[in-house]
Amino acid sequence: MKFFIDTANLDEIREAHELGVLDGVTTNPSLMAKEGIKGRDNILRHYKAICDIVNGDVSAEVIATDFKGIVEEGELLASIDEKIVVKVPMIKDGVKAIRYFTDNNIKTNCTLVFSAGQALLAAKAGATYVSPFIGRIDDVGGDGLALIQQIVNIYNTHGFATEVLAASIRHVPHLIQCAEIGADVATCPLNVILGLLKHPLTDIGLEKFLADAKKTV
Ligand code: E4P
Repeated sequence: MKFFIDTANLDEIREAHELGVLDGVTTNPSLMAKEGIKGRDNILRHYKAICDIVNGDVSAEVIATDFKGIVEEGELLASIDEKIVVKVPMIKDGVKAIRYFTDNNIKTNCTLVFSAGQALLAAKAGATYVSPFIGRIDDVGGDGLALIQQIVNIYNTHGFATEVLAASIRHVPHLIQCAEIGADVATCPLNVILGLLKHPLTDIGLEKFLADAKKTV
C-alpha cells in the first residue's frame, strides 16, 4: 500500500519524505487555505515546491465545476510538473472531464467520493485514483472502511485499473484496516503516519537496553 501525505505544509511533506516512506501527496483547497496560499501564481508555485520535494504523485484540486473550466484549470495544473495529478470532484462535469483527461494522458484523482456507485463511475471514466472519504462517512454514522472494502471488491472483480485511495483518514486503526482490506493507497496527516511508530513496549524496551548498555562501557 502506498503512503500519501494529506497536507499542503512543506515542512510536514519534507519530514515524511525524509522518513523514507512517502509515495505522494494529496492537497485540497482547504489545506491550501490553511497554509495561507493565495492567488493563482502563488498556488502554482506552491504545487511546484511540493513536487520538488517528493518522488511521487501530487494531487492538485481544480476549483472550477463546469467541464470547460475543469479542463482549462486541469491542463494548467498538469503543466506545472509531470508528478501532478488533477483532482476532480465527483460531479457530472467532473466525470466528463476525467474522461477527457484520461484520453489525453493526464492523471486524475476523483475526489469527494462517498458511494460505490460514484466509485464505479470514476473507474469507468478512467480515473487514475478514486478517493473515498472514510472519516467523513464515519462522522455521519456510516462505515467508511466498509465502503473501501466494497470498492476494492468491485474493482478486483472487474479488473478496473483505477487505484483505491483511502482519504479522510483520522487515526492509526483506519490506516491499518485500509492496509488489511487492500486499499492501494492511503492518504493521511503526518501525525497518523508517525503514529505507526508508537508502542509503549518499544519505549520501555529501549529504555532498558540503553540503561543496560551503560553497564557495558
Ligand atoms: C483527500 O484527498 C482529502 O484531501 C482529505 O483526505 C480530506 O480529509 P478530511 O475529511 O480530514 O478533511
